Amino acid sequence: MSLPEKVCVTAVVDNYLDVFEPSTSLVERAVPGKLKGHLLAGHGLAYLVDISQGESTFCLLMDTGNAFETLKHNMEVMGRTPAEVDALFLSHGHPDHYGGLLGFLEWRGTPLPIYCHPDVFWPKYLMTPRGKVGPWKLEREKIEDIGAQLTCATDAQQLREGVFLTGEIPRRTDFEGPMPGAKIIKDGQDMDDPLVDEQALVVNLGEKGLVIISGCSHPGIVNTIQYAQEITGNSRIYAVIGGLHLAQVGEEVLTQTINGIKDCGAQLALTGHCTGFRPHIRMSQELGSTFAISCVGSTATLAA
Ligand SMILES: [Fe+2]
Ligand SMILES: [Fe+2]
Repeated sequence: MSLPEKVCVTAVVDNYLDVFEPSTSLVERAVPGKLKGHLLAGHGLAYLVDISQGESTFCLLMDTGNAFETLKHNMEVMGRTPAEVDALFLSHGHPDHYGGLLGFLEWRGTPLPIYCHPDVFWPKYLMTPRGKVGPWKLEREKIEDIGAQLTCATDAQQLREGVFLTGEIPRRTDFEGPMPGAKIIKDGQDMDDPLVDEQALVVNLGEKGLVIISGCSHPGIVNTIQYAQEITGNSRIYAVIGGLHLAQVGEEVLTQTINGIKDCGAQLALTGHCTGFRPHIRMSQELGSTFAISCVGSTATLAA
C-alpha cells in the first residue's frame, strides 16, 4: 500500500459554530440549508477523518466530544452513520474527548477497534481557581463490554501506510509547559498529571507534507509538530488541525507558539475547541490566510 492521496477532516463536535465563516480553498464550510437539520456546537472535540489510499478508504473517528447527544445529532444532520467508522482514536483521557464514547459504541452496536494510551483510564480531575472539578473516569470494562477492541500503546504506531499515532510526545521546547491544575489519580495516589497520554494523529501526504491533527495539544503543538516530523521522517507540514489549549498562556508563550506554527510552513492552521478566544484573535492576525477557525460541519480536504 502506498501513502494516502487524500485526507478529509470533518469537525463533528467542536466548541465553535459560525455559519458565516467563508469557505476557503482547503476548508469547506457547512451550508445549513443543505443539511438534514441544525448543527449544534458543543464542548469538546470529535473529527471524522476520511483517508483515501489507492482503492481503499479508511474512516477514523478521532474523539467523541463531551456529550454523545451532540455527536449523534451532528453526525445524523451531516448524513454520517456509525457503521462508516472503521476505527476510533482517543487523543487523551479528558472527558470532553471521550464523553460520547460509551453512547457511540452502543449506537454502533458492533465491535470497533479503539486506539489510545493506557493512561486514559486513570481518574483525572482539575484544580481550578473555582475549586476542584471532577474526578472523571473512563470505564475500561464498560467500553470493552459493549464492543471496544482496545489497542493501548505508549509508543508511536503506524495504523496503515502513512497514518501514524504519535504515542507519547517528548517535551522539548522550553516554552510549552504542563497544564496547570491537571491531576491524575494513579494507583490511589493523587499527583500532577503530566498528560503523557495525549497523542496526535499524523497523515503523511508525501511531498505535500504532514497533516497533524491534535486533540488538546497538552504536550504543546510545537512539540507535537517536531515529533511528527521525527517519526515520519517528513519535515514538510501541510496542515495543523485541532485544539491548542492556549487560553491560559501568557503573551510571550503565545508569540513563541504562533511563531512555531508559522515557521513549520503549514498551509493551513485550522484550530478550534480549547484553543482560546484571545489566541484565535492573534493567530488570525499573525497567520493571515493560513489560519481558519474550526467550526462544526467544516471539512478540510488535504490532497497529495
Ligand atoms: Fe479538550
Ligand atoms: Fe484536554
